[in-house]
Amino acid sequence: MRRYAHIRGWGKYVPERVMTNDDLARIVDTNDEWIRSRTGIAERRIVGETDTTTSMAVKAAIEALSMADCDPSTVELIVVATMTPDRVMPATATAVQDVIGADRAAAFDLGAACSGFVYAYSVASQLVSSGAYKNALVIGAESMSHILDWNDRATCVLFGDGAGAFYLEANESPGGMLAFELGSDGSGGELLTGPTVGNSYKPLCGPDLKLQALEMNGRAVFRFATKIMGKAADAAIQEAGLTREDIDLFIPHQANIRIIESAARQLKLPMEKVYVNIHRYGNTSAASIPVAFVEAVEEGRLKRGDNVVVVGFGGGLTWGAAVVKWVAEPVPVESSGARVARNWFRYQRARIGSFQNRMGHVVDEWIETGARIVAKQKRRRE
Ligand code: COA
Repeated sequence: MRRYAHIRGWGKYVPERVMTNDDLARIVDTNDEWIRSRTGIAERRIVGETDTTTSMAVKAAIEALSMADCDPSTVELIVVATMTPDRVMPATATAVQDVIGADRAAAFDLGAACSGFVYAYSVASQLVSSGAYKNALVIGAESMSHILDWNDRATCVLFGDGAGAFYLEANESPGGMLAFELGSDGSGGELLTGPTVGNSYKPLCGPDLKLQALEMNGRAVFRFATKIMGKAADAAIQEAGLTREDIDLFIPHQANIRIIESAARQLKLPMEKVYVNIHRYGNTSAASIPVAFVEAVEEGRLKRGDNVVVVGFGGGLTWGAAVVKWVAEPVPVESSGARVARNWFRYQRARIGSFQNRMGHVVDEWIETGARIVAKQKRRRE
């Protein structure tokens, strides 16, 4: 019996702090007209003192799980796509696992830059539809503002922060991801680079060990993006056994409105069939597609049975496209009191569970240290 990974829950989180183009014009030599006309961006969200990549990922994940009324202790897999983890190690996904109380979940991060969510969604979807896992949480979360050079007007105006999540569940009826197309071209790696560790890190960082900021050859990335988006989308559509005419909504990576329009032209899709929210958030990297997807659902742009194409591209160079059959049941807008209470209980339980686990590590350490002291004293006596 063939299995499918249905999207049963979805959620997003963007930081409260809004940074407009005029705000940016006070920091670097730029202006609202240039940014809007060249990119389509009007404003973006920037993490404040309290938001982190992990906290945004957690908020998006909790929203997705709550929508599906899913108990986090039943989640079997968590994949977080990010290039701005709070730490290189441990993975953001394991921090999410701990906070939400997903005690049974395998958890890892996946790095494919702005294509990260399409990669993560493809991997998780395959693991669920193969029968390896019953469900999965896929998250794209980024704090891009931490890796930007705020003196470089060519890059700092483009990006923003946020997170989006899907909760996938195995189902026997057709739906969810029908096909995907992933690709890479490492020869273009130097066109878009970010912070680094290891040998290449040493000559690049200053005396204060400040991380290297994001660097980009904008025109080259623009050329690559306009070439690859249509091609990747076409490949996924063909793999799904569909044609361009079957596509009801196109949700591209929100990097630049001119790139989006060029992809729509290549695919011969009218802009009414293209979802755009770049004016609100800028390029949120791996969070861009899930945030756009969630907003498209919230705005009623999808109805049951619709075929959706998502396409991402980014550093690597990498790209990814997927065709999704939207079969989710309409979700009640208002949460019932019982659901709110259940969620409260679940996340209180997660906090207590996390505390107990942490205490368990401390107690294990004490026991081992005690045993070592006793063994040492015994050896001395002998
Ligand atoms: N404000 C005002 N002027 C700016 C500016 C800014 N924020 N950034 C660059 N400029 C200037 C440049 O210095 C240049 O001036 P010059 O002609 O005097 O040298 C001029 O604007 C044109 O620069 P150019 O780089 O040719 O602009 P562009 O039309 O290619 O647009 C990007 C620049 C970055 C918006 C565009 O190349 C792009 O979107 N590339 C893809 C980036 C991307 O999507 N990256 C993420 C991938 S996931």
